[in-house]
Amino acid sequence: MEALFGPYGVEWLNLLVRWLHLITGIAWIGASFYFVWLDNSIRPPQAGSPLAKKGVMGELWAVHGGGFYNPQKYLVAPAELPAELHWFKWEAYATWLSGFAMLFIVYYFNASAMMIDRSVADLNPAQAIGVGLGTLALGWLVYDLLCKSPLGQREGLLGVVMFVLIVAAGFVLTKLLSGRAAYIHVGAMIGTMMVGNVLFVIIPGQRKLVEAMKEGKSPDPIYGKKAKQRSVHNNYFTLPVLLIMISNHYAMTYGHAHSWLILAAIMAAGVLIRHFFNLRHAGKVSVAYPIAGVILLMAVAIAIAPAPRKPAQAAAGDVHADAHAGAVSAVAAGHPDIAKVQEVIQQRCASCHSAQPTQAGFASPPSGLMLQTPELTRQHAAKVYQRVVQSKDMPLANLTQMTDGERKLIGDWFESGAN
Ligand code: HEC
Repeated sequence: MEALFGPYGVEWLNLLVRWLHLITGIAWIGASFYFVWLDNSIRPPQAGSPLAKKGVMGELWAVHGGGFYNPQKYLVAPAELPAELHWFKWEAYATWLSGFAMLFIVYYFNASAMMIDRSVADLNPAQAIGVGLGTLALGWLVYDLLCKSPLGQREGLLGVVMFVLIVAAGFVLTKLLSGRAAYIHVGAMIGTMMVGNVLFVIIPGQRKLVEAMKEGKSPDPIYGKKAKQRSVHNNYFTLPVLLIMISNHYAMTYGHAHSWLILAAIMAAGVLIRHFFNLRHAGKVSVAYPIAGVILLMAVAIAIAPAPRKPAQAAAGDVHADAHAGAVSAVAAGHPDIAKVQEVIQQRCASCHSAQPTQAGFASPPSGLMLQTPELTRQHAAKVYQRVVQSKDMPLANLTQMTDGERKLIGDWFESGAN
């Protein structure tokens, strides 16, 4: 019971809030994809038909779950306000709220391990959290101003400017925070813009429409137009945001020296692929967009592929020659044996990666990875190699101060068979 008030309880909170975030995110983005598809797929009714006379500008027929559906879109609004009107907003708000809570649970409560990388910038936790929260607020303010400025009238140009600004934010963040925290804050910043669009533009615009109708006036189409603009932006933001949210599991992206550039390329690929679907719903199939997106992703994968290391050359005998001198001096050895590797792992990794971590804030081994015995280290050799030698993002924030010599030792050990 007591454990619930410690790191163990935080793990549960993490799991449950993450679950909620996923569910609300699916509901929000699912509804949003559906309405984009609907908007692009409806076809105008025949001129002079009863539907057209009612003010319907488009309709379609669909079959789903054993029933036939016939949605119709009115421009600007039906003649009379229906008795019951469904709104879509809590999906968005709940996604943002649960995401914001995740920032605290995962990052802000554990800022020194999760946000700060001394090899990037020597911030203290308060500064790192300030950078994080500041990014969310500033991102929304700048984006909203740009949309309302004359630039807001020029969709294509606005898109390019926003892309450049988001990449610039990513660049600055990777110079201040750990790669992982930088990525998640770019994602959270875009997510905040998306929710800001719902809360401050789309929903108030819809309220104005409804109010005008209640007063018996014909609603001003400007509110619909503004809402539509933001809704289109949200649509293009979706794929990049989702990618960023899962990128935390892939150290090859955020752990790279030019992680901001990788982020830019992946986001661009997401936008290109989304654009294909938007065009396709409207009946235009342009495969050039997804092909360009896929080529971009492949180019990134090739560009950041880890370079082969120099093969270990020294003779096996060297290992024994300095076996007494401790793990660090075994760096020169060609075929390091597991005992030396385990010594390093014990010192640099086991505080987190063991059955009962001693590192503050960890109730269980992260990702379930335990490395406290040579057998376990052998079993997970490939993973260890990937994170310690290739992406170099373990130990987390290099809290345990692993040296380059020790990374080389593990590299040599793995490449000579990981025995
Ligand atoms: C301060 C705590 C901490 C230390 C020290 C640490 N890690 Fe980790 N490690 C984590 C966390 C948190 C994760 C989960 C998040 C992630 O995958 O990045 C993780 C994940 C991993 C993973 C991915 C596991 C999987 O199945 O996805 C590997 C491999 C790994 N660590 C290896 C190491 C090695 C090797 C060391 C020592 C050189 C080390 N870690 C030191 C906290 C730590």
